[in-house]
Amino acid sequence: MNKDRKLIIAGNWKMNKTVAESLDLVKGLKRELSNIKEVDIVVCPPFTALCEVSKEIIETDIRLGAQNMSEKGVGAFTGEIAAEMLKEFLVRYVILGHSERRQYQAEPDELISRRAKAAHAASIKPIVCVGESLEQRESGVTEQIVGQQLRGSLAGLTADQVVETIVAYEPVWAIGTGKTATSGQAQDVHAFIRQTLGEMHDSGVAKRVRIQYGGSVKPGNARELMSQSDVDGALVGGASLEVRSFSEIIKNSI
Ligand code: 13P
Repeated sequence: MNKDRKLIIAGNWKMNKTVAESLDLVKGLKRELSNIKEVDIVVCPPFTALCEVSKEIIETDIRLGAQNMSEKGVGAFTGEIAAEMLKEFLVRYVILGHSERRQYQAEPDELISRRAKAAHAASIKPIVCVGESLEQRESGVTEQIVGQQLRGSLAGLTADQVVETIVAYEPVWAIGTGKTATSGQAQDVHAFIRQTLGEMHDSGVAKRVRIQYGGSVKPGNARELMSQSDVDGALVGGASLEVRSFSEIIKNSI
């Protein structure tokens, strides 16, 4: 498929996998995906497995992501992880503002934007998540919610930083439910996100930002989703936990 933007497919392992299980998974991915250059492939294990996974993928094209990060530098912040610590394991990406964190940790857009700035300052690319709940979709406020989240979470970033940011559109009602957005629904919101980025900066910036879709992405629906003109990749949860399904999603997307 010919798009100006390179596809980026990331596996969000969430709170799954011991170190041993993580290594099994990533060894399998290395075997399956060694020849793939057309897609940026990212795995986001739990913090506890970053060190070992990092060593395992060091000479491959698979890149490492973290699932969250502090907005602060190192210091007295019990339980937090600073960008500098992630850099030690060659972490290149960090998921920020995932809907599970927005929901369970009550993370507001303003905090997410501070984290995005801290990530850029450390040359880590943030994957900033936005998405509406079922109730919001049904009451017709999807664009209002996604627009607010986007503007708030990327507030204060320079145009250059926005270009290096990945936006993940993850409708909350499609996460872990087996209920994927149709490719048309995904495309509509992705186009809206790109239009909003154009309003925040300019159309040149908007054209360069990669926008991932997330929410029950599977081998069977990946191709159709990725064929949409404004869908530039996927953020995969459940199906990224097995070698076969994650590899097939990537192969089917090319
Ligand atoms: P599922 O692919 O399990 O629906 O999860 C999507 C997600 O939340 C990725 O960040």
